[in-house]
Amino acid sequence: MSIDIRSIKPEDVETFRETLFLLSSDDVGFPEEALQHYWKSWATDAITKAALDPKSVFLGAWEGGAMVGLLMGMAPEGGVGTVVWLLVSRANQRRGIGRRLFHEACRRYREMGSHKVKLTVPSRERATFYEKQGMQVEGFHMNHWWHMDMWSMGMQL
Ligand SMILES: CC(C)(COP(=O)(O)OP(=O)(O)OC[C@H]1O[C@@H](n2cnc3c(N)ncnc32)[C@H](O)[C@@H]1OP(=O)(O)O)[C@@H](O)C(=O)NCCC(=O)NCCS
Repeated sequence: MSIDIRSIKPEDVETFRETLFLLSSDDVGFPEEALQHYWKSWATDAITKAALDPKSVFLGAWEGGAMVGLLMGMAPEGGVGTVVWLLVSRANQRRGIGRRLFHEACRRYREMGSHKVKLTVPSRERATFYEKQGMQVEGFHMNHWWHMDMWSMGMQL
């Protein structure tokens, strides 16, 4: 079955929220405290408001009726777009879905006139995925959010 990547519509918001928490609980390594925090801050209303902002980039990767990956990117600030979440379900990793979501977000940011995309990764190993997409490690944040080490990455568009 082919993967369809498209923007989140109002009727997708609940699925997006559930998928976000399912995948971030499963595979990112955040502590319970962080997951609780994000669950509260990304309530349905907050996701709906952010997703429907024409300058934000909220994408779902769908296979049949199932959301198998997602990307949450905030509206660019000063020409810089920020990807907050990029998640692909374990069973669907290494199928090129993460790459497609990331490059679709870059295409949209570029179309909006942004000159750069940035994000933060909680594992050096995962930074390799982004390096393969053309990003560079720009900084290292020791004992950062939730006491985790983080790598900040950026790419000119
Ligand atoms: C990181 C993640 C988004 C990658 O998505 P994916 O769909 O599995 O990646 P793709 O299949 O598009 O891979 C593209 C390339 O990156 C490589 N790659 C994928 N995951 C990788 C990883 N964890 N480490 C190193 N390389 C990786 C692939 O081998 C592929 O390489 P190639 O172009 O040489 O063939 C996905 O593994 C994921 O959701 N992980 C858990 C959540 C997470 O940590 N997200 C990022 C921080 S919020």
